[in-house]
Amino acid sequence: MTSQIPQPAGWPFIGNVLDIVTSFSCESFHRLAQQHGEIYQLNLLGRKLILVSSHALVDELSDDKRFKKAVGGALMEARDLLHDGLFTAFNHEANWAVAHRLLSPSFRTSAVQQTFDGMREICADLVGKWMQNDDRAPIDLTIDFTRLALDTIAYCTMSYRMNSFATDEPPRFSEAMSAFLRECNGRANRPYLLNILMRGRNAAYCSNIEYMRGVAKAIIAERQCGVRKGQQDLLHALINGRDPKTKGGLSDSEIADNVLTFLLAGHETTSATMSFAIYYLIKYPDVLRKLQAEIYAVVGDQSIEYEDLARLHYLTAVLRETLRLQPPAFVRVVYSVEDTTVAGGKYAIAAGSGIALLIRETQRDPAVWGTDANEFCPERMMNGRFERLPPNAWQPFGYGARGCIGKNFSWQEMKLVLCTLVQQFDLALADPAYELELSQAMTIKPKNLSIRALPKRRKWC
Ligand code: HEM
Repeated sequence: MTSQIPQPAGWPFIGNVLDIVTSFSCESFHRLAQQHGEIYQLNLLGRKLILVSSHALVDELSDDKRFKKAVGGALMEARDLLHDGLFTAFNHEANWAVAHRLLSPSFRTSAVQQTFDGMREICADLVGKWMQNDDRAPIDLTIDFTRLALDTIAYCTMSYRMNSFATDEPPRFSEAMSAFLRECNGRANRPYLLNILMRGRNAAYCSNIEYMRGVAKAIIAERQCGVRKGQQDLLHALINGRDPKTKGGLSDSEIADNVLTFLLAGHETTSATMSFAIYYLIKYPDVLRKLQAEIYAVVGDQSIEYEDLARLHYLTAVLRETLRLQPPAFVRVVYSVEDTTVAGGKYAIAAGSGIALLIRETQRDPAVWGTDANEFCPERMMNGRFERLPPNAWQPFGYGARGCIGKNFSWQEMKLVLCTLVQQFDLALADPAYELELSQAMTIKPKNLSIRALPKRRKWC
């Protein structure tokens, strides 16, 4: 005998739409999980969505024989731009497997290592900007990290210089991408007819798509014209690679889909994680002091080298703990392959049902993380404790075949950048009373986070 999955009372036709602030669903999902427990369901304009927030259920649902990635809601809308690119492809689409096979070698540790110097070059742009900030004006951290992450992904995977630090304006590409993703979110949560009527929004949506596809085409055209032709990077693999299985390659339009996929997936999450990490380091001065001591011992006042990365254990723990409390991809959605039950047979789930795994909630489950689950404590990620965690307790990079392909890349970038900034600057909040607020498009990042970065007078004091 199964039990009914709890559901907040809704309204005729629209169901539970009013229970969700669509521009900030992360907070709504959190509130509803507090009210209804580890599993609840919503009726969103006739579309049923089940949401789970305990580690036990996420662990059970992390089984890609029973539950597969669902491309629905905002992700489905994002296909207007990205089509069947790696991130938005349906599981059955042949191009996912082709692109996955073509691109996986570019993300092996040894291949990512080749991008270290390029990452250092872009990081130098950021350091230069902060050094020249003579009047010590507040720095909008998320915008600078967006510049950095966008330039890094474009330069280190496509040898293309975005030069986002050359202007005071936020990078146009990431502005267009954020507006596009916000609108994908909005469209997914509005009735179809209402979407058709919103002419102004639709025009902006289309013009953002056109602009971004233009950027992708320019990047590809530059390479096809022979600029940096021999460069063995991800763009080379996209343009020239032949799938070992089908012997086929990708068409120009499919190459553009994946260029845009990487520009999107490669910058939003990484820049958000670095912003959250700096926030926690400033808020927890003891953690910052320990990290400074480690960096002093491993790197000294020299430029960080690739070999140093593996020796920065405390920095690894700081990043793991940041990604536990604030996973930028705070939710992932799967569907049930067949009729099944979960929670030891307690709840029935019909084949095809969409289930949202609220990773930000799971990664704070007291059953795994204890009563201080909401505290920032890198020590819980060290000295074998991370390795002893139950399966799927820490899952900021997704799961299985559709998990993050760029994990090694982002890990290298984040360690290089955070090490360099902690080494070279004294960091403080511009407003010492600031408490973390979130903003959300497809992912979450800190809202209104401004800092001051003072170059260290002596590098180590
Ligand atoms: C801290 C940084 C990052 C985090 C937290 C992160 C997180 C994730 C998550 C959770 C997924 C799975 C999404 C789902 O199930 O729907 C994913 C997929 C993906 N990520 Fe990342 N990511 C990060 C950095 C990157 C970088 C730097 C790149 C590119 C260089 C990248 C490229 C991708 C791609 C292409 C996919 C789709 C993979 C597929 O479906 O085959 N990510 N990422």
